Amino acid sequence: MNKPEIIQLPKIFDDRGNLSFIEEHVQVPFKINRTYWIYDVPGGERRGGHGYRQLQEFIVALSGSFDVVLHDGQSEHRFHLNRSYYGLYVPAMMWREIENFSTNSLALILADGRYDANDYIRDFEQFKQEKNAG
Ligand code: TYD
Repeated sequence: MNKPEIIQLPKIFDDRGNLSFIEEHVQVPFKINRTYWIYDVPGGERRGGHGYRQLQEFIVALSGSFDVVLHDGQSEHRFHLNRSYYGLYVPAMMWREIENFSTNSLALILADGRYDANDYIRDFEQFKQEKNAG
């Protein structure tokens, strides 16, 4: 997979409360090596503003809502996440920002690699150069 894609997760309806799940290589097309989450985001703040050379991610709005804005070097697409049973697959080499966090929103992010500062591209012009070169 090399395109961003919204993936619907299983939802087990239950009067006691609903349940969803993610299994590696099933709902997400990679091995899950790291999980992190973004929370307590003050109103109006944005996260991200970088690309990854190798890393793939899967982003779920476990609570609340936010927008993931992806730029592929040519054009930008905005994905609004507001349900805990949908996730956004983000391939490597996408510029990504997360914004418009609702109050008390919780972003869960699954990644296929350990944290590696050298994998980050933090300058948009540099990103476009690397993306369009390869
Ligand atoms: P960063 O990825 O830049 O945050 P965001 O893109 O959401 O704005 O990470 C912020 C800081 O947290 C940075 O100093 C690195 C650290 N960090 C880790 O140590 N491990 C991790 O898994 C992540 C995602 C970040």
